[in-house]
Amino acid sequence: MTDTKKLVQKAIKARENSYSPYSNYPVGAALLGADGDIYTGTNVENGVNGLSICAERVALFKAVSEGTREFERLAVVCEDEYCKPCGACRQTLIEHAPDLEIIMANPEGNYRSVGLKDLLPEAFNL
Ligand code: THU
Repeated sequence: MTDTKKLVQKAIKARENSYSPYSNYPVGAALLGADGDIYTGTNVENGVNGLSICAERVALFKAVSEGTREFERLAVVCEDEYCKPCGACRQTLIEHAPDLEIIMANPEGNYRSVGLKDLLPEAFNL
């Protein structure tokens, strides 16, 4: 199994833990650090509007809070043919990993690869 396929499988597995009773839209993510470690995430919703968090940001915040600072690739899985990270996640990810490769995948394990910079051209950078 290639590294990318393995990452997609981790995202599919993480999606099983989704807490999404309001949207019924589970999302899973798996983020590969430069050190080879993988950090997974899923969306965690809340009954108070605005407090829900996306799968990609859970994975990123887990990694950053564990001290990882360099990232290679992120797989994201939802029911779409190819799951696309939302704008807020793109902006959050690009702060830490401008050269990140995004693997947009589906629950069957099919995927498409795209550069984060291509998903968020001319991004804000303080
Ligand atoms: N969601 C993600 O987890 N990642 C995205 O990139 C887009 C949306 C979640 C948020 C919410 O729990 C559900 O999908 C429906 O919007």
